[in-house]
Amino acid sequence: MRSTRSLFLVLIVSAMCTAVTAHNITDILKDHPEYSQFNGYLSQTKLADEINRRTTITVLVLNNSAMSALVGNNPITVIKDELMVHVLLDYFDGKKLHQFSNGTTLTTTLYQTTGNAQGNSGFVNITDLRGGKVAFGAAALGSKLDSFYSKSIKQIPYNISVIKISYPIIVQSILAAPAPSASDVNITALLEKAGCKTFAGLLVSSGVIKTYESAVADGLTVFAPSDEAFKAKGVPDLSKLRDADVVALLEYHAASSYNPVGTLIITKNPISTLATKGLGKFDLTVTTAGDEVTLHTGVASSRVAATVLDSTPLAILTVDNVLLPSELFGKAPSPAPAREPAQSPLDASQPAAPSETPAESPADGSEDSTVHNASVHENAPAFFAAVLTVICSVILS
Ligand SMILES: *[C@@H]1O[C@H](CO)[C@@H](O)[C@H](O)[C@H]1NC(C)=O
Ligand SMILES: *[C@@H]1O[C@H](CO)[C@@H](O)[C@H](O)[C@H]1NC(C)=O
Ligand SMILES: *[C@@H]1O[C@H](CO)[C@@H](O)[C@H](O)[C@H]1NC(C)=O
Ligand SMILES: *[C@@H]1O[C@H](CO)[C@@H](O)[C@H](O)[C@H]1NC(C)=O
Ligand SMILES: *[C@@H]1O[C@H](CO)[C@@H](O)[C@H](O)[C@H]1NC(C)=O
Ligand SMILES: *[C@@H]1O[C@H](CO)[C@@H](O)[C@H](O)[C@H]1NC(C)=O
Ligand SMILES: *[C@@H]1O[C@H](CO)[C@@H](O)[C@H](O)[C@H]1NC(C)=O
Repeated sequence: MRSTRSLFLVLIVSAMCTAVTAHNITDILKDHPEYSQFNGYLSQTKLADEINRRTTITVLVLNNSAMSALVGNNPITVIKDELMVHVLLDYFDGKKLHQFSNGTTLTTTLYQTTGNAQGNSGFVNITDLRGGKVAFGAAALGSKLDSFYSKSIKQIPYNISVIKISYPIIVQSILAAPAPSASDVNITALLEKAGCKTFAGLLVSSGVIKTYESAVADGLTVFAPSDEAFKAKGVPDLSKLRDADVVALLEYHAASSYNPVGTLIITKNPISTLATKGLGKFDLTVTTAGDEVTLHTGVASSRVAATVLDSTPLAILTVDNVLLPSELFGKAPSPAPAREPAQSPLDASQPAAPSETPAESPADGSEDSTVHNASVHENAPAFFAAVLTVICSVILS
C-alpha cells in the first residue's frame, strides 16, 4: 500500500516539477550563437539555476562582442556579480519599458539578493528616452545611461522576459572591490571566522585540507559543521575512529562540484562528495522547503545554515549538524564504539555524552533516528510530502 501511495505522490510531484521548471534560460539561448558567451557564463556561474527557479524576471542579454567587453581580464567572481546586475527581479517586455509613469524607474537586480551590494549598486536605472529609445544604467550616482534596449529575444508572460541590450551595465563598485577568487581563498581561515574552528582543525590535522584545496579547481562545495554541531548529542567520538574513517568523514563534508544554495534548491539527484569512490557511495541527497535546504545522509539530516563564501567554483556553506555517512554509521552495531568517560580531544570542555546509539540523529528529530540504513526508504512518503509542500509553496508564492 505504501508503495502505491509513494508512486501516486511521485506522479503528482513529477507533474508539478515540470510545471515549476517552466523555463530554461540555457535552452532559450542555445539556438542563438551570438549569445553563446553570455549563455556559457550563466551555466559556469550556476546563475542559470537561479534564473530558472525564479519567475517574474527579466534577463538583459549581451551578444558576444558586448560580453567580451564585460569579461575583459576580470576574474570569474566579478563576471558573476556583473551578470547578476543583468537579471532584473521584475518582468519587463518592450511594452512595459515604455510605460513608466515618470519615464524612469529603479529596478531591483539579482545582485541585490547577495547581500554584498553597496549603496544602490543592486539596482538598475531604466529610462525611457524620447524617440522610443530605452536606456539602462547602474543606479549609482554619476553612472552612465549608455546601454540601450535592442530587441526582445523571448517572452513568457509574466514568468520570464529575455531581451537584448547593446552594452554591459557596468557597476563601478563591483570592478573596484572584486570578491576574492577561489584560488586565493584561505579555507581554514574562513572556516575559523565562520564559527567552524573544530572542523577547520580536523581538516588541518588530518591533512584533508590538501584534498579540498586540490579539488577547488574542478568545483567544490564545503559543508562545514559549526562548533556547536560537534558538541551535539550522538556525534561519535572521532578519536575512536580509524584514521581512514576520519578522512572519509571529512571528505564526506565536501561535494565534488560547485553547488551554491540556488543550485542545491533545484538539485534532484544525489550529489557526490570527495569521499565518493564508487557509484552511489558516500553521497548526499537534498530536500528543500522554500529557500531552506536540508541534506540527508541516510543516517540523519542537517539544515544548510549559511553561505560563508560563494566564489565560483568554490562554495563554503555551514551546516547545523555533523554529516554522518551511512557507509560508516548506518550499520547496527555502529563501528563507532560507545563512548568511555574519557574526554574527547575535540573539545576538552565538553563532557562526553553517554550514548548507546552513537549514530542517533543529532538533528532536530525530523528524521528517523534509527541506526540501520533503511531510514531513507522508510521516509520516502514523508520525503515526497516534503517535496510536495515545497513545490506548493513555490507555486503559491
Ligand atoms: C509560469 O511559471 C509557473 C510556475 O511558477 C508555471 O506553472 C506556468 O506554467 C508558467 N507559465 C508559462 C506560460 O510557462
Ligand atoms: C536546460 O536546457 C539545457 C540545454 O537544452 C539542458 O542541457 C539542461 O539539462 C536543461 N536544464 C533543465 C533543468 O532541464
Ligand atoms: C515621479 O517623480 C516625482 C518627482 O521626482 C516623484 O515625486 C514621484 O513619486 C514619481 N512617481 C513615481 C510613480 O515614481
Ligand atoms: C535615472 O538616471 C537618470 C539620468 O541620470 C536620472 O535623471 C533619473 O532620475 C534616474 N531615475 C531614477 C528613478 O532615479
Ligand atoms: C552586438 O551588439 C552591438 C550593440 O547592439 C552591435 O553594434 C554589434 O553589431 C553586435 N555584434 C554582432 C556580431 O552582432
Ligand atoms: C590560512 O589561515 C590559517 C588560519 O588562520 C593559517 O594558520 C595559515 O597559515 C593560512 N595559510 C596561508 C597559506 O596563508
Ligand atoms: C546497509 O546497506 C549496505 C549496503 O549499502 C548493506 O550491505 C547492509 O546490509 C545494510 N544494513 C542494514 C542494517 O540494512
